[in-house]
Amino acid sequence: MVKENIKIENLSKSYPEGEDRRIVLDDCSFTIEAGKMTSLVGKSGSGKTTILNLLGGLMPADQGHIYLDGEDITTYSENELDDYRAEKIGFIFQDFELIEDFTVEENICLVSDLYPKERNQKRLNELLQHLELTDLKDHLPSQLSGGEKQRTAIARALYPSPSLVLADEPTGNLDRIRSKQVFDLLRENCFLFDQTILVVTHDLSLAKQADQILVLEDGKVSRYESD
Ligand SMILES: Nc1ncnc2c1ncn2[C@@H]1O[C@H](COP(=O)(O)OP(=O)(O)OP(=O)(O)O)[C@@H](O)[C@H]1O
Ligand SMILES: [Mg+2]
Repeated sequence: MVKENIKIENLSKSYPEGEDRRIVLDDCSFTIEAGKMTSLVGKSGSGKTTILNLLGGLMPADQGHIYLDGEDITTYSENELDDYRAEKIGFIFQDFELIEDFTVEENICLVSDLYPKERNQKRLNELLQHLELTDLKDHLPSQLSGGEKQRTAIARALYPSPSLVLADEPTGNLDRIRSKQVFDLLRENCFLFDQTILVVTHDLSLAKQADQILVLEDGKVSRYESD
């Protein structure tokens, strides 16, 4: 099956601000190429996390459509959104959102363990190794550094090989070498599993390594091909 690009049409989102509303996305239309890595850049507060949350079905848009695999997810019911998130989306949250009472390994396998799939020990071990987490797999999040938490969150998102990975500043807490390794890992996953990856980053040199770059400014998204 040829994968379809993700199409975003006339997307708007605002938040309440006092008596008024703050418009974050203003009638945006853009495309994210299937099976490619796309970076999303923009100033702090420009709405990058908002875009990821909308694509991940974590919040409703004010208006507009998001077509993924030919379906408009803005028309989904809560149950359909639950299935969509579980089956298709890997989310790397800006603030990790690890479960404190679960070990690194349990956090990584959490969502998949809820579904009737066999645990893929080989894949788990590979990810632990790639992300230098093997020796930490029995640790609790409270025993991890910021970068180690971030790498756990990355492993959790990649483990089920979702078709769309939404990565919110996945290298924000990592040093240069590890940031590059994480970017390379995302790239490799994109290639191996034919994943579509949307990655938010402040680091322009990393952003340029993606296949295309989306720039969010004043509520609008512009798209550039990477050279
Ligand atoms: N739940 C909310 N309620 C009200 N305002 C919000 C809410 N979430 C985000 N905002 C506002 O919307 C704007 C966009 O927020 P968003 O988190 O999407 O930005 P961002 O580009 O991800 O920023 P950063 O680079 O700092 O993570 C900000 O001005 C923020 O204050
Ligand atoms: Mg953000």
